[in-house]
Amino acid sequence: MSQPSAQPDRGSWATRIGFILAAVGSAVGLGNMWRFSYIASEGGGAAFVVLYLVIVATVGIPILTSEFVIGRLSQESPVLSLQRLAGPAWRPLAWLFVVCGVGILTYYAVIAGWTLRYAVDGLRGAIRGDTAAYFGSVSEGGDAVAAQLVVMALTIWIVARGVKGGLERANLVMMPALFVILIGLALWAATLPNGGPGYAYYLRPEIGELFSGRVLAMAAGQAFFSLSLGMGTMMTYASYLRSQTNLGREAATVALTDTAVAFTAGLVVFPVIFNFGLSDRIAESTVGALFISLPAGFEQMGTAGNVVAFAFFTMLAFAALTSAISLLEVPVAALVDGWKMSRPRASVISGIVTALIGLRAAFDVDIVGASDQIVGNFLLITGGFFICLLAGYRLRAQADAELAKGLPNPAARRAWLVFVRFIAPALLLVVMYSALGPTWRALLVLLGFGG
Ligand code: PHE
Repeated sequence: MSQPSAQPDRGSWATRIGFILAAVGSAVGLGNMWRFSYIASEGGGAAFVVLYLVIVATVGIPILTSEFVIGRLSQESPVLSLQRLAGPAWRPLAWLFVVCGVGILTYYAVIAGWTLRYAVDGLRGAIRGDTAAYFGSVSEGGDAVAAQLVVMALTIWIVARGVKGGLERANLVMMPALFVILIGLALWAATLPNGGPGYAYYLRPEIGELFSGRVLAMAAGQAFFSLSLGMGTMMTYASYLRSQTNLGREAATVALTDTAVAFTAGLVVFPVIFNFGLSDRIAESTVGALFISLPAGFEQMGTAGNVVAFAFFTMLAFAALTSAISLLEVPVAALVDGWKMSRPRASVISGIVTALIGLRAAFDVDIVGASDQIVGNFLLITGGFFICLLAGYRLRAQADAELAKGLPNPAARRAWLVFVRFIAPALLLVVMYSALGPTWRALLVLLGFGG
């Protein structure tokens, strides 16, 4: 096998916890805060949560392990390494990763912009009266563009500072703050006098839903998006690993933390919504609960509500930013490793391109939803399917040897291989098939037909 062409200035994580927090930071994002609780309530409450846990264990952790293994094995961006390790036929997969990273960030930065705007306006007590009208006025057009550009500027700035000084340091600050705020909010929500029905709604056990194909597809799509799988983000992060730790254990840690955060976010969202009598609005839209219902609840609390709103949306902004930097890192690593470009320059160029493409989403909220369906649901699942083939078949021996460095137990590695070779790809094929219809419709929206 040829030696990795890693340059000394590529960068690496300073500590194990720095890597784990960065991977958790990528995983914990807007997906945890709104998508999970919304889908859980749609998909049968506690039954969904159980199904989700099963999918995280059988598909999420094995694929996350595969991305970590291939990343650490390669010590470079997938744009170079897939071709070097697996042959030229795999190169398009690396390009798919770059397309996904840029594609998700185009609309992700728009939503992240809303969270910044809400944090500032929430603190000032400026989100008053008709919160749906307020959302309408800041989610599209000039205000949305301004906020999106602020997010992109912050993202570029952090990524440009490097793996240790940028990515690792930003996560070391923002992730612990996020945990503290989240736990504080969940405790506060438990003190609300009329929050009880919220928990009941969130966690009602509709066992029948466990066996519905629709809920299965929803849970799989959500697990993928939430764990940042299928687009080489985790591969790229692991390519900055020097240590020989147990990557199966690291994957489990990241997946469980991500799931715990998503679950806890639901323990904030639902009691608040029910306590303030806003439950009729839950089903209106996926973003409705977060950006329309919750601020209406906070407003009813007067000045204290300003502080809670600020804490809540700051937490969302941290979640979004630590994911945004991991999205930009994919094209940046490709430019740095593949084109030998300097990191600051690569960050500015890929950031500006992403921001420009994202302008359309900032002007038209339908583009956000359509892009999320195409890239966030369909392309990630497709990428994940090919990662299974890569790790489980094409690179099987090398991947197994790399995993063995930290996981000598052969039975555990055999179990991983069974999931990656058979169970996960089979399930992903089913999910891809069921996503075809919505993806086609979203493509029409993106191309400007229908809406
Ligand atoms: N996992 C992030 C979230 O839950 C989104 C994301 C997807 C980030 C893919 C990076 C790569 O919001």
